[in-house]
Amino acid sequence: MFAITAVTEDSRRKPEGNRLIIAIDGPSGAGKSTLAKRLAKDLGFIYLDTGAMYRALALKVLRQAVDLADDNRLGRVVDETEIDLRHSGGNLQVLLDGENVTEKIRTPEVSQMASKVSALKIVRAHMLLLQRAMGQRGSVVAEGRDIGTVIFPQADVKIYLDASPRCQELNAAGRRVELAETLREIEERDKRDSERDIAPLCKAEDALLVDSSSTDAEQVATLVLNQVKNKAREK
Ligand code: C5P
Repeated sequence: MFAITAVTEDSRRKPEGNRLIIAIDGPSGAGKSTLAKRLAKDLGFIYLDTGAMYRALALKVLRQAVDLADDNRLGRVVDETEIDLRHSGGNLQVLLDGENVTEKIRTPEVSQMASKVSALKIVRAHMLLLQRAMGQRGSVVAEGRDIGTVIFPQADVKIYLDASPRCQELNAAGRRVELAETLREIEERDKRDSERDIAPLCKAEDALLVDSSSTDAEQVATLVLNQVKNKAREK
């Protein structure tokens, strides 16, 4: 069995060498992906989209009609599933058991299922290990819901990106009109993500709170880049 998402001594250790970790958390549609991708590109860091990993597992759960109340079955599915993030030509590819599911995981149905599976202990324990292992590959910009609180509590720069519901809706719609989630679906997901027992969405104490409804994306990126430069100098 995997260790649960408690903050272990090991996870508090500073990253080795000159590796830097940027953690970006926040609710759906606050602009985390845009910011994370931009930073990863500018800095040459690995982009770790942890939401895409939950989405990939959710797609498998939907395809196999796994009953989420059936712990044994779910455990087997989790153990047998291979999820990887591959970077090619500046784009992120999400692989589920070797299949490219990058587009297929962006439906409202998958979004909701991702939010449901991600509340389960067995799933989070697995993702914790996987995401920390990915963080060993080099300097990373990781985005999600529990990056600064649980996955990389030792991150060098932590941002909590918040947004008004209206902006969330516009951002979601802008992603891809035909697949856009409704505001009700976004709110439902954020509520579930915030109220779950394990690794709920919340701002790490030492994260910088940025309201993306009122702050220009360019300003946020510049601010983070400056923080990263200072951190890099300290190392
Ligand atoms: O970020 P994205 O909208 O792709 O995430 C999909 C879902 O995956 C979220 O609604 C949330 O339930 C879950 N998630 C999570 N922890 C993360 C990243 C995503 O629980 N670190």
